[in-house]
Amino acid sequence: MKNRRQIIFLVDDNISNLTAGKAILKTYYDVFPLSSGSRLFAMLENIKPDLILLDIEMPEMNGYEAIKKLKEDETTRDIPVIFLTGRIDSGSELEGLSLGAIDYIFKPFSPPLLLKRLENHLLTRSQQIALKDYNDNLQQMVEKRTRQVVELQNAILNTVTEMVEFRDDVTGGHIERTQNYLTLLVDKLLQENIYREEVSSWNLEFLIPSAQLHDVGKIAISDTILNKPGKLTAGEFEIMKRHAAIGETAIEKIMETTAENDFLHHAKIFAGTHHEKWDGSGYPRNLKNYDIPLQGRLMAVVDVYDALISARPYKQPLSPEEAEEVIISERGKHFDPILVDLFRELTPQFALVAEYCRVQEGVRDKVRGKDRVHDRVRDSVRNRAIDRGKSYAVLSR
Ligand SMILES: [Fe+2]
Repeated sequence: MKNRRQIIFLVDDNISNLTAGKAILKTYYDVFPLSSGSRLFAMLENIKPDLILLDIEMPEMNGYEAIKKLKEDETTRDIPVIFLTGRIDSGSELEGLSLGAIDYIFKPFSPPLLLKRLENHLLTRSQQIALKDYNDNLQQMVEKRTRQVVELQNAILNTVTEMVEFRDDVTGGHIERTQNYLTLLVDKLLQENIYREEVSSWNLEFLIPSAQLHDVGKIAISDTILNKPGKLTAGEFEIMKRHAAIGETAIEKIMETTAENDFLHHAKIFAGTHHEKWDGSGYPRNLKNYDIPLQGRLMAVVDVYDALISARPYKQPLSPEEAEEVIISERGKHFDPILVDLFRELTPQFALVAEYCRVQEGVRDKVRGKDRVHDRVRDSVRNRAIDRGKSYAVLSR
């Protein structure tokens, strides 16, 4: 590219002008003499020049019409055009420049002056192209690096999420399912225009995946408590409750070392508020009603629903219909009443997500060769009677 001879289109209906022009320019440039506007556009189909020298007064299509057409087409818009004309009035010059020409040269012209002006314009043009290429490359590089950072972030996130799942073995695909339930509820909020102010300020691309970290604080809870096959003692329950604040603090620490980040902002709220209750009896802060951030109120519904329909060593699973009844009975107590009303409209979809994720999970477990506790429990209790009250009571963990 460095040594490529630059291409000039010379457009003039006067043959002797074309001949004279080519004689002056051909030492330095590849010159294409073209005797009309239609020939110019026919040639442009095959070759894009570095610059066009355009006469104004031509039959059929004059120079003004030609430049308008050039500027309308994005493939020719950026080619510099210089009018080379016998019209020496300032009005014509102004019109030519207003239509996008970069210069206006009067005939008869001085050959050295024409060459010098061409050289200057072509230098500017090549600098513009080099700058654009540089910017394009820079943008591609930034996009590539951003992709790498996002991939790395997702890989770390998946690892942390899997660690939480493996530690708290009985939760199975809980994290995956809660994200799906959450998506259903947030979509419903958007459709129904409810809590619009809060929801419209959220970037859902960050909100939904950030919910994965809601139980990240469980990493700090001992295995004996986390997987205890029975009801926790009051003391053990107090320790278990710490996972909300621990998760919140852990995410806050990451936030101190990173730039402002929507993902972490939501993750911190999910972790710290998903066990708060509408009536103020939740933890860690006993927040009440609208003092609980909407993320926490949403997560409370989906977290409990999923826990209800899941088998755990200390309880049997409820059917989706039974879980629905429990959630409704806690309307205005544990849960935001408006969210419970929306949930009621979505119960068939919730049940579908639960079933789909369980099938997926079963496939994954088979691949891992892993005989998970919750599968054994679920299979053994599937047809047994269920004590719903007891089931909900032990879910506070
Ligand atoms: Fe939790």
